[in-house]
Amino acid sequence: MHAPDDALPSTPDDAPAGWSDPDRLRSAAARHLWPHFTPADQSARGDLPVFVRGEGVELWDADGKRWLDGLAALFTVQVGHGRRDLLQKAVDRAGDLAYFPLWGAANAPAVELAERLAHLAPGDLDRVFFGTGGGDSVEAAWKLARSYFAAIGKPRKYKVLSRVGAYHGTSLGALSITGMTGIRHMYEPLVPGAVKVPSTNLYRAPVHADDPVAFGAWAADQVEATILAEGPDTVAAIFLEPVQNAGGSLLPPPGYLQRVREICDRHDVLLVSDETICGFGRTGAMFGCERFDVVPDMITCAKGLTSGYAVLSAVIASERIFEAFRAGGGQFVHGNTWGGHPVAAATALANLDLFDELGLVEHVAATEGAFGDAMRGLGDLELVGDVRGVGHFWTVEVVADRATRRPIVADADGRHVADVIRAAVLDAGLHCRVFGSGSSVIQLCPPLISDQGVFDEIEQVLRAALEKGAAAC
Ligand SMILES: Cc1ncc(COP(=O)(O)O)c(C=O)c1O
Repeated sequence: MHAPDDALPSTPDDAPAGWSDPDRLRSAAARHLWPHFTPADQSARGDLPVFVRGEGVELWDADGKRWLDGLAALFTVQVGHGRRDLLQKAVDRAGDLAYFPLWGAANAPAVELAERLAHLAPGDLDRVFFGTGGGDSVEAAWKLARSYFAAIGKPRKYKVLSRVGAYHGTSLGALSITGMTGIRHMYEPLVPGAVKVPSTNLYRAPVHADDPVAFGAWAADQVEATILAEGPDTVAAIFLEPVQNAGGSLLPPPGYLQRVREICDRHDVLLVSDETICGFGRTGAMFGCERFDVVPDMITCAKGLTSGYAVLSAVIASERIFEAFRAGGGQFVHGNTWGGHPVAAATALANLDLFDELGLVEHVAATEGAFGDAMRGLGDLELVGDVRGVGHFWTVEVVADRATRRPIVADADGRHVADVIRAAVLDAGLHCRVFGSGSSVIQLCPPLISDQGVFDEIEQVLRAALEKGAAAC
């Protein structure tokens, strides 16, 4: 399935002049490009890979090296690379109107996409507010929660809860919700009122590590305890990913999300499912909240909405929230130029058409077991402490010592071993996240068209890399 016949990959022949000259590209990147979350000396050295072409699950860099995309670029390219048919359909659909904003008006692709997303989303999540990225939709959802409570006469409800270690974006509001201390501290003081609750990392659970149900109940009860400590009349929302990415595919323990839902209902707190990664098939359902059987009050989504072929995000909100603004004669005072751009919306529509044509969500559900088996097969290696995941969203946790679960990157020796493993994965041309943000996990999140051949190749590359790492211990 991973190399669709009708995909029309770009070829070196039709690449713009200069794209085929790796030295020129690298030196221009070294001099002028400022890459994201990248050490400045590394980008200035000019040895970052520069990708020029993709097809299905494969990528090629400017040197002609072939890579397997084990991360859907950045948890994004659900339908795979090189789908010129998708782009063509989007251009055909949007071509009559290159741009019109959603300020006091609408454009046709945005309307059509809003209707489609409302049909796809669970419950009464029928109102779609478009934006430009995952963090942008998180930012909007927090403002929306605050505005909603102001609209219904509860303006003191402004605080937001989220989990320790979770990533929700980098603008100052979204960064305040983000629970990764390493990327927050240099920007403090952040937006007041963002409070953290424990994560659901069962492998590193502080209590009930051998009982997922009891651990889930404990973690949910921490949410309630935090709401009570802060004062329920001050808490507006909690942001959770159905499966938390940062820390490595942290699954919700059985009953956890349902208990959080009950707690939210009890204290009039909005439940926001951040589906920037989990949305659009990643977990084997269209939305992660469906996979785990909970209906939130809002979904934030981005990435897979367009499979990365255009820039777009959305907050899909309960009709109840919209109704509060309508009934009060008010408005949500928020917006931007690009949210709901017609070309991006048309791209999302073409992407969702392709989901249907390929039966992509069903394919993920059907192949989840095979992916999991391939990753669990690595469990015989001495450095592998845990393998966990769902759908096409898997993590291998690497430890220096299985008995104590000591993370591989925790000390000077660990860092050396981590470097050996990372280098082996890169040399083999597997694009995935290896020990991101100093964590001890290898994260895998390939395009959703991946099949047994992809799972096996990932397993082989990781096996060889982990064996090298073990030899370096
Ligand atoms: C759960 C989650 N929320 C928000 C974001 C931020 O998305 P963006 O980079 O599009 O702003 C990300 C990015 O990976 C994410 O994983």
